[in-house]
Amino acid sequence: MAALKESVVNQASKKTAIVTGATSGIGLATAKVLQAAGYRVFGTSRNPAPAAGSDIQMLTCDVTEDDSVATMVETVFGETGRIDLLVNNAGFGISGAAEESSVEQAKAMFDVNLFGVVRTIRAVLPIMRSQNDGRIINISSVLGLIPAPYMALYGASKHAVEGYSESLDHEIRGQGIRVVLIEPAYTRTSFDQNLVRSDRPLDIYEIERAGRDRFLREMMTTADTPEVVAKVILMAATAASPNLRYTAGSKARQVSLLRRFVPAKGFDKSYRKQIGLPAAS
Ligand SMILES: NC(=O)c1ccc[n+]([C@@H]2O[C@H](COP(=O)([O-])OP(=O)(O)OC[C@H]3O[C@@H](n4cnc5c(N)ncnc54)[C@H](OP(=O)(O)O)[C@@H]3O)[C@@H](O)[C@H]2O)c1
Repeated sequence: MAALKESVVNQASKKTAIVTGATSGIGLATAKVLQAAGYRVFGTSRNPAPAAGSDIQMLTCDVTEDDSVATMVETVFGETGRIDLLVNNAGFGISGAAEESSVEQAKAMFDVNLFGVVRTIRAVLPIMRSQNDGRIINISSVLGLIPAPYMALYGASKHAVEGYSESLDHEIRGQGIRVVLIEPAYTRTSFDQNLVRSDRPLDIYEIERAGRDRFLREMMTTADTPEVVAKVILMAATAASPNLRYTAGSKARQVSLLRRFVPAKGFDKSYRKQIGLPAAS
């Protein structure tokens, strides 16, 4: 175990990593794990403040703004002369039925969860290409693999990250750069407190929406810790030949296997049952 730890530290030593959304949750845990493994880590936040018990170097960045992303990447490159790892972690969800969000609200979420990823990747690619080396890790979700009733727009944004990442990985592999997806299930962070309520609520969904919120709160009480996800991210960052996808935690692994191997109708029926939706044709 000690030898394994030492080898991970050696592989990672002196490498530069950027972690977006590193003030809390999965981002903060990842920044700490990478730093402990020897990376020089730059965390980003819209309002950076030193996190308690952490000396991660924090930079201001709003992933919805091109200039903000460009300035952050220039600052990191100016200080270190290289960027080896980008972890696209910043993201949030909207809770409510699909029909209950305005297009404006949907766009605002995609601007972080999908276009934020596109912005940071476009900013680091010229640097990684010039190094002929680099790794990009995008935090997806099991909701990028399966349906997400009452979080449909969030699920759609993660399905989009999945499709974008898989295609991009094929395009840039020849440049020494790999793209990896991390798929956690429920993880105990501020994610549920930071959920944005749908901005066009409709009476017809009220009871079910409240039920979904209760279900999410319950799931969060037994969810994996963010450290579980962070350790998988370190593994994906340091693997000599990484997989395209890594599930994080046993629940996520189970969901991913069921999705792949259970026939569609069977999956649909058992999924509705598991998440407490009434059986219906
Ligand atoms: N928790 C779960 O159950 C779960 C499961 C699967 C996947 N995920 C994914 O994991 C990632 C991290 O979420 P978390 O659970 O750790 O939640 P969290 O504690 O709420 O952290 C979200 C982070 O995103 C950042 N962020 C939000 N909007 C941003 C913007 N416009 N520009 C830059 N940063 C922004 C926040 O940073 P500032 O507010 O400091 O700017 C915050 O650090 C997300 O992509 C989420 O979709 C979470």
